[in-house]
Amino acid sequence: MAKIIYIESNNKLHTIDVQNGLTVMEGAVQNNITGIDADCGGSMACATCHVYVKEEWFDKLPKKEDGEEDMLDMVFEPKKNSRLSCQLIVSDELDGLIVSTPSKQG
Ligand code: FES
Repeated sequence: MAKIIYIESNNKLHTIDVQNGLTVMEGAVQNNITGIDADCGGSMACATCHVYVKEEWFDKLPKKEDGEEDMLDMVFEPKKNSRLSCQLIVSDELDGLIVSTPSKQG
């Protein structure tokens, strides 16, 4: 279990306990976080789960696979701390992770 902090584009903050093994995207969808639609259900085909990871967390996450990088090339306003939340699997190590949703997904 890890506390994941989601910040919506309107700065509304949600602290959610997400079970280990779920993805950061699934934690958002199950708790109706605005801005993470996850249209493809986590198969890395839609990029509607795009989030910005708080800088201090970025290097602690598993590296991106090529497919994730390709999808992130297509998102609106990608940044160097962009990730697909469906590729971030929750574990105790991610306790306190902070992600924010891009304004275009709000
Ligand atoms: S849910 Fe579609 S790419 Fe993540």
